[in-house]
Amino acid sequence: MPTELPSFPPGFLFGAATAAYQIEGAHDEDGRGPSIWDTFSHTPGRTADGATGDVACDHYHRHAEDVALLEGLGVDSYRFSVAWSRVLPEGRGRINDKGLDFYDRLTDDLLAAGISPAITLYHWDLPQALEDEGGWRSRATAEHFASYAAVVAERLGDRVGRWITLNEPYCSAFVGYAEGRHAPGAREGTGALAAAHHLLLGHGLAVPALRAAGAREIGITLNLDRIEAASDSAADQGALRRAVTLHNDTWTEPLFAGRYPAGEAETWGALADGSYRREGDLEVIGAPLDFVGLNFYRPLTVEDAPHRETDPARRTAVDIGVRETDPYGTRHTTMGWPVVPRAFTALLLELRDRYPSLPPALITENGSAEADVRSADGRVDDPDRVAYLADHLHALADAIDAGVDVRGYYVWSLLDNFEWARGYGQRFGIVHVDYDNGAERIPKSSYAWYRDLIAAHRARTGKRRS
Ligand code: FCB
Repeated sequence: MPTELPSFPPGFLFGAATAAYQIEGAHDEDGRGPSIWDTFSHTPGRTADGATGDVACDHYHRHAEDVALLEGLGVDSYRFSVAWSRVLPEGRGRINDKGLDFYDRLTDDLLAAGISPAITLYHWDLPQALEDEGGWRSRATAEHFASYAAVVAERLGDRVGRWITLNEPYCSAFVGYAEGRHAPGAREGTGALAAAHHLLLGHGLAVPALRAAGAREIGITLNLDRIEAASDSAADQGALRRAVTLHNDTWTEPLFAGRYPAGEAETWGALADGSYRREGDLEVIGAPLDFVGLNFYRPLTVEDAPHRETDPARRTAVDIGVRETDPYGTRHTTMGWPVVPRAFTALLLELRDRYPSLPPALITENGSAEADVRSADGRVDDPDRVAYLADHLHALADAIDAGVDVRGYYVWSLLDNFEWARGYGQRFGIVHVDYDNGAERIPKSSYAWYRDLIAAHRARTGKRRS
């Protein structure tokens, strides 16, 4: 582990991130409607140990304590998500004021603590009522998303500076509608491709709606991958092209180049008939942004997989004849993800070279799941997480030194939380949550390390961001 702290330019923003369903709990309180994650997690066999977000970290009731933890950390900004079905229990139409009141209070508490809120409008928790009408397979969902965005921004736009429309639409579309590992748990072909398009459209429709309601800085968060081929063989190079289309170009080409990905036909063949697209959609999707949010955890290496399903009726949209390999020979986190910080630098350089007009980037998530243990004296020492964060922040500083415009970094996550289908066994927090003990919070040594890094940065640059 490098002993020297990474250093960042004056005004660089430090933050911490969470998401509504992963921490809030209070799933049926104050008029909240069910989301696809309530339905999914309550379906036997869908999540590890049958875990649900019914209680999670109980953040809904303990938010004051969590704001105090953020204040102690000294972050400039806190990224949290709004649960769509708290605000609009049926996803559209009737507004639930109590839901908005919660985020209003949280916003004011953050501002009083000198922390600027960054709101994610969609971190995967589609109102179940909209899923019942087709979910993201349906174009109408994109329009409902823009209306919902306007409702939230009308209430909070005067105080919340930074808005993220969607979190990782890759996961919503492909993990949710193609692989079925996430809500709504579908395993479809064209369903997932239509979902990908409607997510982008929803994003594009929300941008002007947010601006009209007073939002100042608007972006989208993507989980773009640094992908390499296992070999130079023609077959593996083909696998690389298909994986890049699926993971990256599906999002970056419409958002930043005004076109659909060139590799679609090669990747999906007959599945990609584009019937869900309309003229003018690309202009909507390409609405200028103030920043692009990037989440980075690990790289991918792919090889050609011989057993590709050729019958379009049986193919899902992730069945693209690609298999992941793991040539890295490095440590893995408890998620099974290889730790390869240099891939983070490489991804940022690659993106900058490919899209010279890319808006400034914010790293909206980065962190690691580790097997944390609480010692007899109650402390949680997590040297592996500290090393992960230090190495990735060094890798980020390298990219900035090489001229990539990155303005800030949010650690994932403030708290251990409901890690989706993997449940509570995967701990990403810099604050430990003792679920057996009323969700008691215990800052880990990584919390202290990150606090000291922020303090050292401020002492060196004398600046605080808002
Ligand atoms: C990302 C998600 C986030 C969290 C991390 C580990 O894909 O955006 O909610 O689950 O992975």
